[in-house]
Amino acid sequence: MKTNQPFVPISHNSRLTLPTAPNPYIPADARILQIRDLGNDIRLFDLRFTDSQLAESFTFRPGQFVELGIIGVGEGPFSLPSSPTRQGFFQLGIRRVGVLTDYLFEHLSEGDTVGIRGPLGNGFPVRQFEGGDVLVVSGGLGMVPLRGLMQYLIDQRHLFNKIVLVYGSRSPDHVLFREELESMSRRGDADIVLTVDDAAGQPWNGKTGFVTDLLAQVDIDPSTSHAVACGPPIFYKFVLEKLVDQGYGKDRIFLSLERRMECGVGKCGHCGVGYTFTCLHGPVFSYWDALNLPELIHS
Ligand SMILES: Cc1cc2nc3c(=O)[nH]c(=O)nc-3n(C[C@H](O)[C@H](O)[C@H](O)COP(=O)(O)OP(=O)(O)OC[C@H]3O[C@@H](n4cnc5c(N)ncnc54)[C@H](O)[C@@H]3O)c2cc1C
Ligand code: FES
Repeated sequence: MKTNQPFVPISHNSRLTLPTAPNPYIPADARILQIRDLGNDIRLFDLRFTDSQLAESFTFRPGQFVELGIIGVGEGPFSLPSSPTRQGFFQLGIRRVGVLTDYLFEHLSEGDTVGIRGPLGNGFPVRQFEGGDVLVVSGGLGMVPLRGLMQYLIDQRHLFNKIVLVYGSRSPDHVLFREELESMSRRGDADIVLTVDDAAGQPWNGKTGFVTDLLAQVDIDPSTSHAVACGPPIFYKFVLEKLVDQGYGKDRIFLSLERRMECGVGKCGHCGVGYTFTCLHGPVFSYWDALNLPELIHS
């Protein structure tokens, strides 16, 4: 994948079909197998398509997302925190913020079904990472899509050289997937650096301080590595500059962005930025692309 090429213009007449249905607006039913509380109004949902053929064949690229809909309530885009290397089911890590997510938390339980369309968006260019080092930098809820990427890299450990995760959270309570990440670190699958803004008197054996302060300590050669970043807008402002200062090429830094979306398939224009639609050309962009379209990060 050439990342410094202009975006491919969209043909509004082009027909898009999704694995979930030939008509991209029609969702497929998926059953909620399990719901786990991750704290701070975030839950992890395990889902499986009710159509067993779709359930077994459904695949995606880390960094892609799906539209989850509930009839009469609404629909919203959610990243996939699971990996396509683990088939038969998929997961969504959802924070409760409004109408749809409130309904999901209040009225749906294990055994209920929801509508799913996808996978959508481009995802991380993981094939490009093969043979080299990968630095994954995460802030807050950005760990949701990056957890899927980490599982993907670890499940195919032989394809990658060094894998490093630097993940910053507000406090120890806010660290998502903590046990899983600590066990990756114990097994030696990846170098995992967890840091919090403030340990707030809680038991904590990780680091304290901002992600940007720790990047200089990472033992990785930026000139031959790829970096992936996902976090809140303020996080990008500092992390991206730091990565460039350290020698990562702008076309080797990838970020995942959130925009308000409706259709998810490049038709409604809700997620348009300049000449791109985030749902179709993103949500993953190289830093190079983002610099050519500054509204991507700053609007
Ligand atoms: C590509 C993509 C991936 C996403 N992945 C995840 C994920 O993995 N987990 C997750 O919890 N959320 C994710 N989101 C955000 C999620 O789509 C929204 O939080 C959800 O649709 C809100 O629906 P609601 O009806 O509950 O909230 P609403 O009632 O619509 O809104 C409640 C509040 O949330 C804000 N809000 C709604 N949508 C967004 C948005 N896209 N970005 C910023 N603020 C928003 C509104 O401004 C409002 O303040 C993702 C968004 C995108 C575009
Ligand atoms: S959400 Fe409709 S064009 Fe992107």
